[in-house]
Amino acid sequence: MFLSLQLLLLLTLTVRTGGYYQYTTNECLASSPDLTDVEYIVTYHFNKDPVMRFNSTVGEFVGFTEFGVKQAKYFNGLPYLQQLQGELESYCKHNLENDFSVVLEKAVAPRIKLRAEKQPSGGHTAMLMCSAYDFYPPAIDVYWLRDGKKVTTDVISTEELSDGDWYYQVHSHLEYTPRSGEKISCVVEHASFSGPMTYDWDPSLLESERSKIAIGASGLVLGIILSAAGFIYYKKKSSGRILVPS
Ligand SMILES: *[C@@H]1O[C@H](CO)[C@@H](O)[C@H](O)[C@H]1NC(C)=O
Repeated sequence: MFLSLQLLLLLTLTVRTGGYYQYTTNECLASSPDLTDVEYIVTYHFNKDPVMRFNSTVGEFVGFTEFGVKQAKYFNGLPYLQQLQGELESYCKHNLENDFSVVLEKAVAPRIKLRAEKQPSGGHTAMLMCSAYDFYPPAIDVYWLRDGKKVTTDVISTEELSDGDWYYQVHSHLEYTPRSGEKISCVVEHASFSGPMTYDWDPSLLESERSKIAIGASGLVLGIILSAAGFIYYKKKSSGRILVPS
């Protein structure tokens, strides 16, 4: 009741002040980010009704009312048409490009880590893991190349896992029997890259792991030898004391 009363008041006021309202809308329409089908629509309205419209695909104005048809005919004879057609590039495409690159296609490149999960030993299979961290958007493609050919078997990949902070991570495992001289690579495709990024597996990384183990083992052996020597020395000294009592 209260609401309808207010509405009535508003209508009366509008009529009393003689509300005539002419306005133009400029719309840029695109269905894909490559901007091949951008359409520029300029519509003239009077009191909410469309009077005439310029459609860049049509290339001229079309009138909707008697006045609109007249006005369209007039406008279609002016250089104004070329100006509007130019705005398809300078206004629509220019702004849409910014919208897509700054907002809609905002992408953050993944951090890639390639490592051995299981080392090859005595003819057994090895496992490599290729991980992509902290990327956005979640759409990503991670796959393996063996001597340049895509590996389709013995690959297990996780889903794109959400980190809960807008970023995602994904992991792909490759199980394989190493052959000497072969080249294994992990390839990542993501919107943040201009093309596929290839990360080659360097088996010498395994060597460095091995040398780390060797250094550790040598240290351990040295430690045992020194402890044993110390212990023997201590035993000899203390037993010497027992043998020669004062
Ligand atoms: C513009 O004109 C084209 C060709 O007639 C038509 O396919 C398209 O739907 C029109 N666009 C709008 C928004 O009316």
